[in-house]
Amino acid sequence: MTYEERLAFAATVNGFMPPDEGRALARHGLARASERPGGTWLEIGAWCGKSAVYLGAAAATGESVLYSLDHHRGSEENQFGWDYHDPTLVDPIDGRLNTLPSWQRTIAVAGLEETVIGLVGPSSVVAAHFAQPLDLLFIDGGHGHDVAWADYTAWTPAVVSGGLLAIHDVFPDPADGGRPPYEIYLAALADRFVEVDAVGSLRVLRAN
Ligand SMILES: C[S@@+](CC[C@H](N)C(=O)[O-])C[C@H]1O[C@@H](n2cnc3c(N)ncnc32)[C@H](O)[C@@H]1O
Repeated sequence: MTYEERLAFAATVNGFMPPDEGRALARHGLARASERPGGTWLEIGAWCGKSAVYLGAAAATGESVLYSLDHHRGSEENQFGWDYHDPTLVDPIDGRLNTLPSWQRTIAVAGLEETVIGLVGPSSVVAAHFAQPLDLLFIDGGHGHDVAWADYTAWTPAVVSGGLLAIHDVFPDPADGGRPPYEIYLAALADRFVEVDAVGSLRVLRAN
């Protein structure tokens, strides 16, 4: 698939990334891939692979690699009885949510199996054993207070100078959504990151 074909495919994948935000993510990834080919990228929150295809399309242009991290058991709001529960993603054997088979299928259909590499497990456990500096970090994992702050604290120090930090579901108005992604976005601005773009609830920042 070409870059454009991958973006068109990404729009059809089950997930939580509107096309304008996905395309913005890909556009910044594309610029970063040409600036620094062969880089290491990581996303927290893979779900069924939608954002991984947007980012993977860009990574493939520069032979960068995107690690796509998720425990594949869904966030709180994806569990049975909550708003974003999808019964088609429940494993009939154990009755638990499992997005890993869908994620694998998505990456295979996009032809990105050598660009997008799955990391399956809790973000904080992986972070404690992952030493690679990051050229791009996308935070879209758990949106609860403790999980979002744990992701911010564990992973943002790994972003290299000049590298990109993207955060999803940043809502300045509390009426639009939960606080933690907005709080970590403010923390990043107060630290060494500068905003370079805002599209919908996506914020893209660059590390000094
Ligand atoms: C909003 S969804 C990600 C959406 C995805 N980026 C997309 O484009 O559709 C959040 C994901 O974070 C994962 N998640 C939540 N807490 C996590 C944790 N502590 N470690 C790993 N994954 C986690 C959930 O399993 C869920 O798949």
